[in-house]
Amino acid sequence: MLTVLAWLCSSMLLSVSGGKLPEAEVEIDVLHRPFLCRRKTKYGDMLLVHHELYFENGTMLYTSRTDGDRHAMWFTLGIMEVLKGWDKGLQDMCSGEKRKLVVPPALAYGKEGKGKIPPESTLTFVVELLNIKNGPRSHESFQEMDLNDDWRLSMQEVCTNTHTAFRKLSHLES
Ligand SMILES: *[C@@H]1O[C@H](CO)[C@@H](O)[C@H](O)[C@H]1NC(C)=O
Repeated sequence: MLTVLAWLCSSMLLSVSGGKLPEAEVEIDVLHRPFLCRRKTKYGDMLLVHHELYFENGTMLYTSRTDGDRHAMWFTLGIMEVLKGWDKGLQDMCSGEKRKLVVPPALAYGKEGKGKIPPESTLTFVVELLNIKNGPRSHESFQEMDLNDDWRLSMQEVCTNTHTAFRKLSHLES
């Protein structure tokens, strides 16, 4: 029974993820959480942010604060308007919240790099969320996207658990 489940899981995982390795993750560190949080960011929202960008060695490459508040930026979350690392790392965030994101190259500028950013760079962003607005797209479609994403994650979790159970069991039997 477990063998069948494990086999089913591996073939399902392969078909879901196209046989690729699990996708890279963003490391999220909440630096400041506001006392009041009326609403949290979700896919499709428009976000106004200030940000700083650091290399792995700690050197700062960019700050949006050089000129007062003039370089704060609006973008839409979850539609790849920004780096994948931002789309993944700036969800469920409150207005006034500040996060540090450590973004692996696969979710940033990858093998090519860009401008002053060398290939295969892990980048650190400090992002402060100033404002949230409803985005131009319908919320429903983004919730669907989110659901799909969740389904995939939970499938992986289920399968990981099955594999572990299977390993434990065969260990007991031998
Ligand atoms: C830090 O890393 C960046 C990118 O690799 C490089 O351009 C810069 O010179 C480095 N700075 C120091 C102080 O090592």
